[in-house]
Amino acid sequence: MTDTQLNTDSYKGVRDFYPKEAAVQQYIFTTWSKTAESFGFERYNASVLESAELYKAKGAENEELVHEQTYTFIDRGDREVTLRPEMTPTVARMVAAKRRELQFPLRWYSIPNLFRYERPQRGRLREHWQLNCDIFGSDDVAADVEIIALAYQTLIDFGASPDMFEVRINNRAEMTAFYNSCGIADPEKQAAVTRLNDRFHKISPDEYRTGLVELVGEEVAETVYGFVTGETSHPHESSLVSDLNKLGITNVVVDRSIARGFDYYTSTIFEIFDKSDENNRSLLGGGRYDNLTSMFGGEPISGVGFGMGDVTMKDFLETHNLLPDSIQSTAAKVMVIPMGVEQNVFAQQIAQTIRQAGHSVATDFGTKKVGDKISRAGDKGSQYVIVVGEDEVSSGRLTVKNLSTSEETTGTAEELAQHIQ
Ligand code: HAM
Repeated sequence: MTDTQLNTDSYKGVRDFYPKEAAVQQYIFTTWSKTAESFGFERYNASVLESAELYKAKGAENEELVHEQTYTFIDRGDREVTLRPEMTPTVARMVAAKRRELQFPLRWYSIPNLFRYERPQRGRLREHWQLNCDIFGSDDVAADVEIIALAYQTLIDFGASPDMFEVRINNRAEMTAFYNSCGIADPEKQAAVTRLNDRFHKISPDEYRTGLVELVGEEVAETVYGFVTGETSHPHESSLVSDLNKLGITNVVVDRSIARGFDYYTSTIFEIFDKSDENNRSLLGGGRYDNLTSMFGGEPISGVGFGMGDVTMKDFLETHNLLPDSIQSTAAKVMVIPMGVEQNVFAQQIAQTIRQAGHSVATDFGTKKVGDKISRAGDKGSQYVIVVGEDEVSSGRLTVKNLSTSEETTGTAEELAQHIQ
């Protein structure tokens, strides 16, 4: 024992999930899984611990995530370990490891928790869960179409309507070609312009313009400004947009300011934005990465996918009033209430019998009055109560009360187990 009292706060930027919040999170996970599986995606998983070198591989030199936002430590065996900040390097590693056995194209999904050392704010925390859906082994634009259609459907399956959000797409290869065409040849300069573009929707047009002038000079800045704010669409995007339109997805626009923070993307990149003024932010992001598996040797296997966070998802659902009122924690359907401590074990026997018939049952062996226990059972979401006193113990006959209809039925525990719906 020490004299100091510990604080009950959770660690900075992470959440405790009390049953109510855990129920909401579970609802989000279940809906995500159903949508991913409705597209034939198979679930995979991995450890939160990864070797730090996975994130230091070439291509990640400029990434803020790797340099400033990872939780990295030395383990007792002198290995450098990182708590995964994203799932894409992990899934690329897993696919590369079994490349000979796997049948491509493959569709995989996962809902990992990820750790990023960020300044906590609305929509950004230090631990979040993220739906990751990726297709490996197809270079066809059909894979890009399917991934975006799946991202779209995840929102629809929560009850969202298409006017609540917008799909914004861009293309890394075309951005590079554009930079080269207007004389921004240095890859570092290109990356700096890309990072500025990434902030396009968060800063004013004037700030953006000034930033551009500082980076590339006045004349080139005008060209870049015109391109990023204009509506040029190359054949690649036109076909992606028209394919999505054919699937009934019409809230898609080409947006040259979409940059994505990761260096591994090679062509299509996209984000989905909440259109509400209250929550005007990106809900998910993804793209095509054709060379990520090559860091493990062998021919590269292309991938295309996206990640969608639970924090921004919940904000979206709250903003648009899409969280069902009926989300409940997993309270027992039947509550068995002993009148006194003498009936506790008998109550547990009854609970066991009814549980074996497939119902969820708990016993309230608290010290409150029976009336209080009955109201509490109702408040927690139980549908039935069975009060057990001396008479019930001696006769073995019990009465179950349906809390919503007040209807009462008497019988043995086995009979009641059959009666309960
Ligand atoms: P990302 O843009 O870093 O992409 O994250 C994707 C989504 O995760 C974001 O749109 C946001 O919803 C959520 N998110 C990210 N960071 C945080 C945070 N600190 N707090 C709360 N939510 C957050 C990736 O991670 C890519 N690996 C996605 C991907 C998969 N690309 C291809 N496949």
